[in-house]
Amino acid sequence: MSLAAWLRFAELSLLAAWLGWQLYGRTTRSGTRSSLVPGLAALIAAAQFILQAQATTDPYTSLTEVLPHLLRSFYGFTTAAAFGLSTALAIWFQLGKPFATPSSKGLAALTSGAVMGVLILCGAASADAVTAATVVASSGELVMSPTLAVPRSATTTPNPYASDPASAQRGQAIYQQNCAACHGLNGDGNGPAIAGLRIKPPTFRNPQHFLAPGMDGAHFWVIQHGDGKTAGMPAWQDRLTEQQMWDALDYVKQIAAGRAGSGA
Ligand code: HEC
Repeated sequence: MSLAAWLRFAELSLLAAWLGWQLYGRTTRSGTRSSLVPGLAALIAAAQFILQAQATTDPYTSLTEVLPHLLRSFYGFTTAAAFGLSTALAIWFQLGKPFATPSSKGLAALTSGAVMGVLILCGAASADAVTAATVVASSGELVMSPTLAVPRSATTTPNPYASDPASAQRGQAIYQQNCAACHGLNGDGNGPAIAGLRIKPPTFRNPQHFLAPGMDGAHFWVIQHGDGKTAGMPAWQDRLTEQQMWDALDYVKQIAAGRAGSGA
C-alpha cells in the first residue's frame, strides 16, 4: 500500500471512530480536545490528496497543473468534501458547539448522517483514486514547442532499445539520410533544407529536453506523427519501421548527450 493509501486509511478510520463516539458516546464535551479528531482527519485528507497529485506530475507537468484536474474528479470531489466537513466540525467543536442545545439531537443526527455519507463516498472514491490519477496523468497534452503538442498518453510507451547501444549506432545512418537535411548533421537545427521550412527545427543539443526521464515515448510520438504542420516536422511512420524510428531517436539522444554529431 502506498503512503497516500495509508493516509486515506488513517483518515477514514479516524472519522469512523469519531462518528461511533458521536453516535454512542456521551457527546457533552466541546473545545480543543474534541476538535482534535476532525481537525486531524482534515489535515490527513489534504496531505493524502497532495501526495496523490504529486505522484502524477512529470517533467513537463507541474503540481499546479495536476491539482485542478484531480480536484474535478470524483476522488477530488469527495476528498474536498471530507476536508471541508472535517474542518467545519473541528471549528464547530472549537467554538464550543454554537447553536447546539442539549436537546438538539436532530442536529447531531444530521451531522452524523452527513459524515457517514461522505465516508461512504470516500470509501468508494479511494478505489477510484488511482484511476483518477492515471486519467489525469494520461489526459491533456504535453506542449513541446509553440507548434507541437503530444498526447500525454505517449509518455507511457517504453523505449524498447533503451539499453541497447547498437540502436544509436544503427540510428546514425538513418539520421544522416532522413533527418540531417533539416536538423543538421550535428543536430543544431541548421540543416541545408531549413530555408524552405515555416517552422524552424529545435536544436537537439538540449539534454534537459531530450534526455528527460520518461519522455522517450513522447519524442517517439513526434517522429511517428510529425507536428501536423505544412513545412514543419514530417511524419515518419509510413516511411520508417518502428525500429528505425527508435534507432533515430536513440541517435538524437546521443547528440543531446554530446556523444555524437560534434565536428560532423
Ligand atoms: C523537413 C524537415 C525535417 C525533417 C526531414 C525532420 N525533421 Fe524533425 N523537426 C522538424 C521541425 C520543423 C521540428 C519542430 C517541430 C515543431 O516544433 O513544430 C522538428 C522536431 C523534431 C523533434 C522534436 C520533438 C520534441 O520532442 O520536442 C524530434 C525528436 C525530431 N524532429 C526528430 C526527427 C527525426 C528523428 C527525423 C528523421 C527521421 C526528423 N526529425 C526529420 C523538421 C524536420
